[in-house]
Amino acid sequence: MLLRYVRPFTLLSLCLGLMLMAATLSVGASCASGEGQAPTHPTQATGVVLPEDPDNPLGRAVYIKHCKLCHGVDGQMGGSGAANLAVSLLTEEEAALVIKNGRKLMQSYKDRLSVEEIQSVAAYIQLFKDK
Ligand code: HEC
Repeated sequence: MLLRYVRPFTLLSLCLGLMLMAATLSVGASCASGEGQAPTHPTQATGVVLPEDPDNPLGRAVYIKHCKLCHGVDGQMGGSGAANLAVSLLTEEEAALVIKNGRKLMQSYKDRLSVEEIQSVAAYIQLFKDK
């Protein structure tokens, strides 16, 4: 009778023990390689965050929603071959035209963004240039 209750309990504690060991091992391994909580994205690793722009919250919001994916938090990510916005030679007006009409893998935004949104985000990305 007693055995009936002891056995499942022993099995359970054995399982728990193994799980604990596995967890300890994996924590130890990641500590040893020095990569415990390291962010996987390179721009995050350098602590770069998307610039604030109190005068242009719309531009920032549009950038987060539509552009960050390829251009990144510093405009330099280059996802899908995206141009580096930090060294872009385009003026604000020229950038607005690229956003409106698209270029290579970057699609046209004229059907998705209003004229105001395009102007705002074109203004916002000028912030990347000062760095
Ligand atoms: C799918 C990825 C992708 C997304 C999303 C994207 N872009 Fe691009 N962007 C690119 C690519 C690719 C290029 C063109 C590279 C080339 O012509 O060699 C580019 C070029 C540009 C350029 C031209 C820069 C220059 O100096 O030539 C600007 C400005 C720009 N993007 C801004 C934006 C903005 C603003 C958004 C959001 C509304 C955005 N992009 C969204 C991929 C993307």
